[in-house]
Amino acid sequence: MKKITIAIDGHSSCGKSTMAKDLAREVGYVYVDTGAMYRSVTLYALRHDFFNADGSVKTAELEAAMPDIRISFKFNPETGRPDTYLNNERVEDEIRSLEVSNHVSPIAAIGFVRTAMVAQQQQMGKDKGVVMDGRDIGTTVFPDAELKIFVTASAEVRAQRRFDELKAKGMPADFDDILKNVQERDYIDSHREVSPLRKANDAIELDNSNMTIAEQKEWLMERFRERTAQ
Ligand code: DC
Repeated sequence: MKKITIAIDGHSSCGKSTMAKDLAREVGYVYVDTGAMYRSVTLYALRHDFFNADGSVKTAELEAAMPDIRISFKFNPETGRPDTYLNNERVEDEIRSLEVSNHVSPIAAIGFVRTAMVAQQQQMGKDKGVVMDGRDIGTTVFPDAELKIFVTASAEVRAQRRFDELKAKGMPADFDDILKNVQERDYIDSHREVSPLRKANDAIELDNSNMTIAEQKEWLMERFRERTAQ
């Protein structure tokens, strides 16, 4: 069967990564969580005090540090999924904290950060057989991807999912704070100048507000079979 590139883009917390990870495992493809890469840069920036008091980024300091920021993924046999590493330190849980979520949008809006991340992502997917999830995969990273999905769900449904996820991990969570964060990130992600979140013309839209994980999985497998059979 021919190997393809699968781009899964969409709003934050709409279950993109769960569906992308499950699909990758099911079909034996490599999974790349590009949001984790922007989150890792954000964690590095927080640890090095690269944010001004008003939340803006000290861009000159960050740009100088970019060569020292190495992000990689290592397969975790316990979970069957890849974990994110920042300079060889496992940061998989820390990058999901609300503090990182609250600071990631301005980092992801910086041109030199995106250029560096996109280059790494293109390298990771150069041999196809990859499922990549993010915001600009179908538009910028792999505009020729054979299968592009644009996922969305209502802001309330997405906030509830993130709330449940944090609670399940025993991390602090407040529903209203999370909803506000989801709405703010939607706005910033869709209005930034560099690679704003938008559906590629040839992407298939999936609103999963009222879908179970199993229904979504079946829907996605069907799209995968269509594209690999062509
Ligand atoms: O998918 P996520 O919530 O983990 O993504 C974290 C942030 O990174 C989100 O605010 C948007 C940004 N992002 C991006 O700009 N481009 C990507 N390809 C992936 C994520």
